[in-house]
Amino acid sequence: MDFLFPDDFLFGAASSACQIESAVHEGGKGEDVADHFYKLFPEKYLGGDPDKSADFYHKYPEDVKLMKELGLRCFRFSISWSRIYPNGPDEVSRDGLDYYSRLIDCLKSEGIKTFFDLFHCDLPYWVVERGGILEPDFVQWFKKYARTCFEEFGDRVEFWSTVNEPSINVYGAYANACNAPFLKDDDLAVKASHNMILAHYEAVRTYKSLGLKGKIGAVIHFEPVYSLSMDPLDDRAARMKQAFYSGLWLDPMLKGRYPEILLKEDWFFSKLPENHEKDLKDSFVANDFIAVNYYSPSFAEYAPEKRLRYRSVVNNDLPKDAYGFFSYPQGLYDALKYLSETYPGKDIFISENGIGVEKSGDYEKDLDDSYRIAYLREHLRSVSRAISAGFPVKGYFHWTFLDTNELYAGGYKYIFGLVQVRYDTLERVPRKSFEFYKKVIKEGRVD
Ligand code: NOJ
Repeated sequence: MDFLFPDDFLFGAASSACQIESAVHEGGKGEDVADHFYKLFPEKYLGGDPDKSADFYHKYPEDVKLMKELGLRCFRFSISWSRIYPNGPDEVSRDGLDYYSRLIDCLKSEGIKTFFDLFHCDLPYWVVERGGILEPDFVQWFKKYARTCFEEFGDRVEFWSTVNEPSINVYGAYANACNAPFLKDDDLAVKASHNMILAHYEAVRTYKSLGLKGKIGAVIHFEPVYSLSMDPLDDRAARMKQAFYSGLWLDPMLKGRYPEILLKEDWFFSKLPENHEKDLKDSFVANDFIAVNYYSPSFAEYAPEKRLRYRSVVNNDLPKDAYGFFSYPQGLYDALKYLSETYPGKDIFISENGIGVEKSGDYEKDLDDSYRIAYLREHLRSVSRAISAGFPVKGYFHWTFLDTNELYAGGYKYIFGLVQVRYDTLERVPRKSFEFYKKVIKEGRVD
């Protein structure tokens, strides 16, 4: 049986500036968090020096040709804030703007649409020094940067995302110490997320005020959360985790308020700024679309002693990839169903989906990624089924086009790319999955 896709389905691939550009001291770039903290704690990054990645900064013309060969209809990438504002909010870098302008023109010349994130894990270090996402001025700094990008590139970019995976940028940084600046303070994380949402609103409002023709939203990490039992308390725990992981962002960005179930929790409510409701009400502006990164489902059970009365649990029945993600293609279908029912009327994009495998150390051997083909096939089948069921899914972006630096989450240990990067020579070699995806795109169907 074939699983079909509409002719205008946006088959894409995604990547991000700090994970493939390298050239961290070129083009007038300022330091971002990864550049800064890598120097201090290289072991946290497993030696993943941001300056030694795929060198997309110089090699993008060659890479765009490969994208064209693949038949890619849209490339999702990010703009590095510290290339545009290297030293602070007052001085914009013409070199940085020119670089992204050349990249966009190159993609356009091959007929490839663009989807750009403004902030993908690479906060400029000057922002951290001045108080980070928590600082009230953050909202204005971000708005100014966003305006600069919209004014410079807005006539050529079809899709914008203000922030990629705010949960990782905020909770990863402030609460779970897995991302720079590596803090463990849940209370700060709630405050920072509120500020991130206000900054997002300001950027979206600015975009709308410029009368541009593209669409704008944000990219949210999304795990459908399941309960492992029929117990209503476990079910509530799963809904609570869903609200805390994704509703925390999607509800304010699409409905202008925090999820009710979270607001009822004393801990969460008490950590929000006093005027949070008014803040959201006064500045709410809805995203044009929903974009989610889907890798894994997750599971929860009731745990009365916990802050939000749930505990994450592991379902050992599901296979796990080397990176630690559970592979569950049905989860992607469930996610698309949930999103279209919970936030009706919006186009949905799967802004990331992919599989990370530990590299073997043998470049030839690592070209055979049959596991990625199996993963891609199963997940695309779920997408096709979701479209047939009537869910408004408009695009799929594979993570990732080129092998990347996973930064604090694994450096160069894992390979995610349709295209292999040989880091010693910077040669690009398409993997088996490249041919598979090329055929899917060409024929508009997966077997
Ligand atoms: C999501 C993030 O957006 C991306 O930066 C990361 O590399 C992938 N997940 C894989 O871990």
